Amino acid sequence: MSRVEEPKEQERPPEFPELETPRLRLRDIRPTDAENFFEFSEDPEMADYFGSSNHYKSEIATRERIKERIEKQIGFKPGRYSWIVESRESEKFLGEVGLHSIDLKNQSGELARGLVAEARGKGFGAEAARAVLDFAFGALGLNRVQAMTRTTNARSQRSLEALGFSREGKLRQYWIVDDEPATVYMYSLLRSEYEKETT
Ligand SMILES: CC(C)(COP(=O)(O)OP(=O)(O)OC[C@H]1O[C@@H](n2cnc3c(N)ncnc32)[C@H](O)[C@@H]1OP(=O)(O)O)[C@@H](O)C(=O)NCCC(=O)NCCS
Repeated sequence: MSRVEEPKEQERPPEFPELETPRLRLRDIRPTDAENFFEFSEDPEMADYFGSSNHYKSEIATRERIKERIEKQIGFKPGRYSWIVESRESEKFLGEVGLHSIDLKNQSGELARGLVAEARGKGFGAEAARAVLDFAFGALGLNRVQAMTRTTNARSQRSLEALGFSREGKLRQYWIVDDEPATVYMYSLLRSEYEKETT
């Protein structure tokens, strides 16, 4: 079958779902998250995720601008779902997880995760990812979820591999992080692999 086809009318993707796991709630972003983001984006370990250290401070100078950006991000936007990760117990802001670059024709999308420093290394990243993967391979009907991580980001690589992702290759100087080229690994997980792991 030729890959050059007339684009078919796409089904409307599901509305934005709130997701729950034993310890976490994945919810829509709210204007009151502005302060959380302001602090979060100052974390140098978040540079890979945001593309720069002090992302909001350097790119968006005022809290008003953060508020505007959050308002734009609320709910489902074509090609992209973003969830705030919070503790179900304390309702504390723990970070953000997203499913981006959604391509319904090719049934693919990309997982991105960033947790606040105190929440890392406790299995929250994997717990949030599993909720998003259930949604991606289930209601959204994707066949492939990819994830990229800098070659130097050992924790993120370990976490993706523990989730069943395979490293497919190296993308040379694929990102610019803090104005420097950064080489990344491309990882992917297929629906057939995920179903095998979860049944
Ligand atoms: C990458 C990232 C999302 C991974 O999330 P994470 O929660 O740290 O990773 P995991 O969910 O895979 O958890 C793994 C760790 O939790 C531990 N763990 C797993 N389940 C647990 C549980 N129920 N209770 C306590 N600890 C647990 C594991 O032993 C493992 O420890 P280790 O890292 O010392 O080996 C997170 O570290 C992060 O936000 N990093 C900064 C941003 C970033 O690099 N993003 C990705 C690239 S853009």
